[in-house]
Amino acid sequence: MNFPIKKYKEGKTFFYAPDLDKYGIPQNAPAFYNPNMKFNRDCSLIAIQTYQKLLNKNIIICDPLSGVGIRGLRYVNELNGVNFVFVNDYNKNAYELILRNIKLLKNNLIIKAFNKEANNFLNDFSILPKVLDIIDIDPFGSPTCFIDTAVRALKKRGLIMLTATDMRILCGIQPKVCARKYGGYSLKTNYCHEIAIRLLLGCLMKIANRFNFYIHPLMSFTQIHYIRTIVELIKNKKEISKNLKDFGYISHCFKCNGRLIFKELDIKIPKTCPFCGSKLISIAGPLWLGKIQDKNFLSNSLEIIKNIELTNKKKIELFFSTLLAESEMPPTYYNIHKICKNIKISAPKLESIINKLHESNFIASRTHFCPICIKTDANINLIIKTIKDLKT
Ligand SMILES: C[S@@+](CC[C@H](N)C(=O)[O-])C[C@H]1O[C@@H](n2cnc3c(N)ncnc32)[C@H](O)[C@@H]1O
Ligand SMILES: [Zn+2]
Repeated sequence: MNFPIKKYKEGKTFFYAPDLDKYGIPQNAPAFYNPNMKFNRDCSLIAIQTYQKLLNKNIIICDPLSGVGIRGLRYVNELNGVNFVFVNDYNKNAYELILRNIKLLKNNLIIKAFNKEANNFLNDFSILPKVLDIIDIDPFGSPTCFIDTAVRALKKRGLIMLTATDMRILCGIQPKVCARKYGGYSLKTNYCHEIAIRLLLGCLMKIANRFNFYIHPLMSFTQIHYIRTIVELIKNKKEISKNLKDFGYISHCFKCNGRLIFKELDIKIPKTCPFCGSKLISIAGPLWLGKIQDKNFLSNSLEIIKNIELTNKKKIELFFSTLLAESEMPPTYYNIHKICKNIKISAPKLESIINKLHESNFIASRTHFCPICIKTDANINLIIKTIKDLKT
């Protein structure tokens, strides 16, 4: 290796990567490894183990954008029920580090490294018989250029895991670029991270449907600078049309924070807000409006967490529990501090608003998206009334 490297440990796995003390940020290093994405990889491990248990068979995983290989290495070293892992990166330095890292594994007979362009690499898996149960797409920026080949390479039933880091595009700073890349307009609202996930899922749905798969999101989340979604795809022509019923638009009022969901494509955009009469309305989409978490999957994940060795078990357990709590909630969430600022009232405790909404037969929960926000099926005016009632 003609650059400084260092031996790291993540989870239970040892591996070499460029010495980040010498490069400052991962993007400056000759091969990619970002220690800050450990949480993403921990969650991915749990999601894969949960899925493997649900399938009740051994699986084959593909990591086509693997940097120094840490994901694939951890999948081999820390999961049960894995038959084989394919890792790949077009960067020569990364590939050489992967080869070196594979030698460190106890079980290095069930992993193979490649040095190809990711779409070409995935293309080789699209011929019959298909072997890939899980494809983990973790690129720089947007995953959209890899979704077609990933869908084509997947078995009739499998998982596609997507990370996107192009948050300016997905969170409404560049809505037209988003329409071009993801097929829907983003919108800069205080729940833009959820809109981002829904745009990514909408994009995946359109591509999957084209290849006769329907999508079934199992788990979706955001952390400061990225979004991640883990989705089951099942090839079944009869079921595909159901996906379209979960595809449409969100309209948002920038005056009162009210929003409407349109589960159809041919919408009459409202000119005035039904909640406050303002004309400050904008549209996000078309995007995915169905569930972004699966209750059963997350309950099973919590069982897996109990029995897996993790350095940050408490944090992960709490995170999965929050995802589970919000799994049956409708799209979007409300920033309580922002609403209270609008109506010039000091914010009550989140729990008291949630309890009061429950008493009035609404569903409501906290959300992992934001610590001062709630998800609920009550509309903005009813939320405001609930807050005011709590203050009197
Ligand atoms: C965000 S990094 C991957 C990080 C890795 N998955 C992890 O968890 O540490 C993206 C990687 O994809 C590689 N890459 C980008 N475009 C590629 C392409 N078209 N074909 C193959 N590799 C590509 C880059 O060299 C880089 O190592
Ligand atoms: Zn309004």
